Amino acid sequence: MNAELTVPPLSDLRLRRSVKWRTFPGDVLPLFVAEMDYALAPPVAAALTEAVARGDAGYSTPGPELGRAFAGFAARRWGWEPDPGRVLPVTDVGVGVVELLRQLVRPGDPVVISPPVYPPFFDWVPEAGGRVVEVPLAAGRLDLAGLEAAFATHPAAYLLCNPHNPVGRVHTPDELAELVRLALLHEVPIISDEIHGALVLPGASFTPLLSVPRADQTALSVVSASKAFNVAGLKCAAVVAASTRMAQIVERLPREVTERTGHLGLLASVAAFEEGDSWLEALITTLAARREQLGGLLASRLPAVRWTPPEATYLAWLDASAWGRDAEPRDRFLDDALVALEPGTRFGAVGSGHVRLNFATSPEILDEAVSRMSAVSV
Ligand SMILES: Cc1ncc(COP(=O)(O)O)c(C=O)c1O
Repeated sequence: MNAELTVPPLSDLRLRRSVKWRTFPGDVLPLFVAEMDYALAPPVAAALTEAVARGDAGYSTPGPELGRAFAGFAARRWGWEPDPGRVLPVTDVGVGVVELLRQLVRPGDPVVISPPVYPPFFDWVPEAGGRVVEVPLAAGRLDLAGLEAAFATHPAAYLLCNPHNPVGRVHTPDELAELVRLALLHEVPIISDEIHGALVLPGASFTPLLSVPRADQTALSVVSASKAFNVAGLKCAAVVAASTRMAQIVERLPREVTERTGHLGLLASVAAFEEGDSWLEALITTLAARREQLGGLLASRLPAVRWTPPEATYLAWLDASAWGRDAEPRDRFLDDALVALEPGTRFGAVGSGHVRLNFATSPEILDEAVSRMSAVSV
């Protein structure tokens, strides 16, 4: 059994300069953006400290290291062996997705997404010239019948969130196989955002889309160490292809997309993928404990709030529509409870009445946050 990771004192957390700790005044508990409160994994911290000691903060170079490190990680954790030569570093997941969409989309083309979903999906599609077509999740799962109808209209692409932020759903091999069948049938390329792939909690197991039979012919993945290892500010992700056909799309990307990868991010990602397994196990133990704690806190103090515990991620998608009548309960929790959560409608209109809570923190902060929330009168 792994020991749980600890969280620095709140006074130290408040010294951090990232968005989580700089957006709201000091009396607000920030449980909104997807950053974790734990210290960095020791191998990641060592790689960064050594780089700083060397004065090694120049440009990144697109060597084979990231591909090899990610392929080893994917093989160990998911039994999937991507070709390291088809793992291309990019600046971040957002840049990877937008640049791939640019290769697939002509101005105004439809691109399908499944809300409620990570808010930038709504922005990345128009950034690449496309138009969002929504096929919402049905009862928290991919609506395969709805996707079939949408795919029959020949959209330029489907943007999959695997695992799915904000509901924390881990799509099953059967669901993904059916998705691939539909995509091949209607010739719809899939871009799979797998940034949360390493954050699957006990009780579920992750299926990388490209490990599904024949997915290699229609799909590309965008992966990163940044979410599981909490290094999003270092700017490193990778686009993964698994067939010559789909690699041709990646080959069309401008060289600059790779060259704009953060050098420190690349060094940290290689360390994370190669040497981060034991820390990651402790993280997963910790997140599973916080998930359970949150379930108990909600049941005892906020019973009107409904949720399905996530199978992956450290994000809880809370349905507060029976708690109050606000379409955006986040405002009441922020103003009256001084707890900052993500507003549900950022994830699409279907997020009305919801909030997303980040539980990658200490038991004490989580307890305090739910206590404050439960004190708000409706
Ligand atoms: C599904 C999903 N994709 C992408 C990102 C952001 O990735 P990046 O910062 O590498 O663009 C996040 C961040 O939380 C996310 O949840």
